[in-house]
Amino acid sequence: MRKGLFITFEGLEGCGKTTQAKMLYNLLNKKGIPFIFTKEPGGTKIGQKIRKILLDQKNDSMDYKAEMLLFLASRAENVRLIILPALEEGKIVISDRFYDSTTAYQGYGRGIDLKIIKHLNALVVGKAIPDITFFLDIEPQEGLKRSTAFSNSREIRFEEEFVNKKIIDGKLFLERVRDGYYKLSQEESGRIKVIDANRSKEEIFKDIIKIVNKKMAIR
Ligand code: TYD
Repeated sequence: MRKGLFITFEGLEGCGKTTQAKMLYNLLNKKGIPFIFTKEPGGTKIGQKIRKILLDQKNDSMDYKAEMLLFLASRAENVRLIILPALEEGKIVISDRFYDSTTAYQGYGRGIDLKIIKHLNALVVGKAIPDITFFLDIEPQEGLKRSTAFSNSREIRFEEEFVNKKIIDGKLFLERVRDGYYKLSQEESGRIKVIDANRSKEEIFKDIIKIVNKKMAIR
């Protein structure tokens, strides 16, 4: 039986989701509420190895389908070893990115068949479906300016798309990803909350806490 609460953070690079996830876990820590924090890709030993492969610039010519399957492989490990056990123990699970990233980046961004992604995501996550997903929305260019990804230049997945600003069917890759997140949030408006990330981190956090509190009170 799943008893915990599963919260995921999503958005483009530089949207501030990692900061917000950390603010949330600091608060839970202070209140003594049991939680775990995880991130994708990564989260487990095998996940860390997969993350290295995915973010190694030497692998930037990787086949799109191989890339998608590696994100999914990392997720399968994360769900089985970290997320489901914690939810079964009644903990709050916070994940910095989860399955909506694959739909947005590999589906809407890369153009891989959305139906296939939906099936594969369902296979991999099983019962680990997020209760709340925060989509921190920011303009792609603003996000890239803020992003710290480039300070660690060996760890970038989409160098061609971000640095050289590759256009696909008349749109920047990150605009396609952002459109994908919008579509997802319309389809699943109960779960995915669009948060205007173009504000101070304190203002954003107020919105997040309001939504988390409401969900916890209902349960
Ligand atoms: P990371 O360094 O964790 O960046 P961020 O701080 O933006 O989360 O790198 C993860 C990169 O992988 C990021 O560009 C988003 C991308 N990604 C996918 O394309 N598909 C996925 O399923 C996931 C989880 C991430």
